[in-house]
Amino acid sequence: MPQFDITIAGELNLDIILYGLPEELPLEQELLASGLVVTLGSSSAITAHNLSVLGTRVGFITRVGNDALGRVALDRLRAAAVDLTRITQSSTSNTGLTVVLPHARQRRILTYAGCMADMTIADLDLAYLASSRHFHLSSYFLHRGLVQQIPELFQRLKATGLTISLDTNDDPADRWEDGVQEALRFVDILMPNEREACKLTHTDDVEDAIRSLAKQVPVVVVKRGARGATAVFKGESVSVPAFPVEVVDAVGAGDSFNAGFLHKYVQGADMAACLAYGNLAAACSTTRAGGTEAFRSPECWKKFFAANEAHG
Ligand SMILES: Nc1ncnc2c1ncn2[C@@H]1O[C@H](COP(=O)(O)OP(=O)(O)OP(=O)(O)O)[C@@H](O)[C@H]1O
Ligand SMILES: [Mg+2]
Repeated sequence: MPQFDITIAGELNLDIILYGLPEELPLEQELLASGLVVTLGSSSAITAHNLSVLGTRVGFITRVGNDALGRVALDRLRAAAVDLTRITQSSTSNTGLTVVLPHARQRRILTYAGCMADMTIADLDLAYLASSRHFHLSSYFLHRGLVQQIPELFQRLKATGLTISLDTNDDPADRWEDGVQEALRFVDILMPNEREACKLTHTDDVEDAIRSLAKQVPVVVVKRGARGATAVFKGESVSVPAFPVEVVDAVGAGDSFNAGFLHKYVQGADMAACLAYGNLAAACSTTRAGGTEAFRSPECWKKFFAANEAHG
């Protein structure tokens, strides 16, 4: 039996979320936020954290600096029982950081990549990553040191029998290249949001984008914000609506969706059940700040899941 259900290699940083700032941010003027939350950020770490809380056995490889931000982020993952035995530490660069400025239903996202950009395939224990049933990678374009080797990484893990999921998230350079088409050859489940699906296929029409991606990968799962999610696989399309919730913020909702979806997927659940559980985990995440606050206390997420699961 493999050591893990899911292994993840990816970025780790804290999120600083400042609420209540104006939409316009003029220079040379002191602007006051009305609220502050410092929490675990980064797509890979949020997905790892929430998967582990839900009961999936997760092995996570990341790279941190020798600094307080990295230690706090690792403590959060340890508290969720994520296995961190193969992480590496940089002695030359520090742990990254993201500042999120939510405004109405939109937000500004400012990221300093830090040592996540230094991670290369040489930092990854491939035998450890392969000791799993499934491998997940998030934030394709942020891994500047790894990106050229991601197709090779996928190919090698796939050769050992793992299934692979990919959530590209955004490309800050807005090029959507870096070998991503080559990487898709080895992906079983592609998990973009609507905008990312369009960007990946260089079209403005999301339905065209989904059709095109479905020709490239066995399962396309598109996250559609308050409208839920759609999966296309084996020529079929299944859509499941989102759960109605009072949203605090949608930071990490997509990553929490990934956690819920993959938690069910590795158990062999059908596509509708995977989508519903993804929506449930994502909705739960929106009820507290950031991507993991709702999952830090078992009372909080279990109560939400029990109250909403029956309606899924
Ligand atoms: N207002 C909302 N009400 C209920 N559920 C929501 C809402 N917004 C988002 N969700 C849930 O979160 C999931 C992911 O949302 P979204 O489409 O924003 O992903 P994303 O852009 O990848 O997120 P992220 O910024 O975390 O990467 C949706 O599929 C849905 O299940
Ligand atoms: Mg996302």
